[in-house]
Amino acid sequence: MDSAKLTLDPAFEVGPVGKRLFGSFVEHMGRCVYTGVFEPGHPRAGEDGLRRDVIELTREMGVTTVRYPGGNFVSNYEWEDGVGPASERPTRLDLAWKQIETNAFGLDEFMTWLREVDAEPVMAVNLGTRGVKEARDLVEYANFPGGTRWSDLRIKHGVPEPYGIRVWCLGNEMDGPWQIGGKTADEYGRLAYEAAKAMRRVDPGLELIACGSSNMRIPTFGSWEATVLEHCYDQVDYISAHSYYDPVGGGRADFLASAVEMEQQIEGVIATADHVAAKLGSGKRLKVSFDEWNVWSQSLFGGENSLDWEHAPRIIEEEYDVAGAAVVGSLLITLLNHADRVGIACQAQLANVIAPIRTEPGGPAWRQTIFHPFALTAAHARGRILRVQATAPAMPTERYGEVPVLATAATLDDDRLAVFAVNRGDRPLPVEIDLRGLPRATDLSHVTVADDDTGARNTESEPRRVEPRAADGAKIDRDRLTAVLPPVSFNLLRARLS
Ligand code: AHR
Repeated sequence: MDSAKLTLDPAFEVGPVGKRLFGSFVEHMGRCVYTGVFEPGHPRAGEDGLRRDVIELTREMGVTTVRYPGGNFVSNYEWEDGVGPASERPTRLDLAWKQIETNAFGLDEFMTWLREVDAEPVMAVNLGTRGVKEARDLVEYANFPGGTRWSDLRIKHGVPEPYGIRVWCLGNEMDGPWQIGGKTADEYGRLAYEAAKAMRRVDPGLELIACGSSNMRIPTFGSWEATVLEHCYDQVDYISAHSYYDPVGGGRADFLASAVEMEQQIEGVIATADHVAAKLGSGKRLKVSFDEWNVWSQSLFGGENSLDWEHAPRIIEEEYDVAGAAVVGSLLITLLNHADRVGIACQAQLANVIAPIRTEPGGPAWRQTIFHPFALTAAHARGRILRVQATAPAMPTERYGEVPVLATAATLDDDRLAVFAVNRGDRPLPVEIDLRGLPRATDLSHVTVADDDTGARNTESEPRRVEPRAADGAKIDRDRLTAVLPPVSFNLLRARLS
């Protein structure tokens, strides 16, 4: 078989497209914050130091949710350092990334920025070097109306109305040996339970995320989630998952098939969480918060000890190519196809550090290749996600065995059909989509992110080398849609239904 066949039937669906699937992540790491989203004195920055060019690109990308302030950074962060008059804020050592942290940007600046990009926060608390008290204090500062120590401090800082931050991460990657203040699963599970209890006492409306494993290759994957959740199941709503997919750490076919691993991880985390529910006799079901995912050449990173004490260092400023964009597209497709159990997903990170948006200090901001599949999916995945029935040619991979060359998801919104499709293979892939269960489809369009050179990138001097382009040849004949997907490409097919 050298073509793929899909059947779409509105009777079979995964569920609604959750708004929080199109999240991103701003960490105090490298140049994500400083000279990324925040650069006082930049020609495009306002008086508040926020770069308007980055705000515009973030809005264009369709980011709905932003996790902050870390990442590993949060595990030795004192949030009080980042609020109040900027001139009085202390400069600290950040042990996570060996950075000099000036604290010129903190919670209040982040929330101002977030209003501009029109997104919702996912706030992380430090459960590495700190604990229950500092976490509940931060909830009081952010969410309590007034008349108490921390809420009055927020008001004194010029923010009369509470922020009403709903979603909170109880720490970050607490299983990782690299984490400052890392814990065993029992230690962390107890702490997460107690922190959650205190935070909910201040604000009962919170939605809380317990730390799952840092990736699925860590030896404690599965047992970590089980132990942690046995302690805190009743107090949390989500369990997190993180994963980065390495273009240089293995073979090319393995990299192009990365979404297989994401799917295995989601299914493994859900199975473990449901196992704990069964053990506890609980009818409650947790969702996965996949709050760090992206492509990252992690095998080239020399580790934290290779870094020197610097403010806003240039670290892991990954340049993405067309193959990276196809993989990012396939990861988004996987998230859509699991949206019944994945409630939150945040691509890591937003600016400069393994990021879709690149900036230069005092200079321009531009879209990396991976910006495009994200923006197209965030803009057009609307309504209900259909359960797509697909058959496709397979390609051999070392890590995952035979993998279909096609990754695909589809959404249906009133009169709009959108099909997202990645061709992982090195040959054009003809696809035939059976639309027989749907109303008549017209006004077909096919947009692709592809290039004859799959290593093509966008750079400061050539920022628009790779962009979505209209593809020729797609057509609808009665209830049969046909198109050809270029080699190693992300594709969006859209039609109007009448
Ligand atoms: O996103 C980069 C880092 O990767 C984060 O700080 C950490 O949580 C993960 O290991």
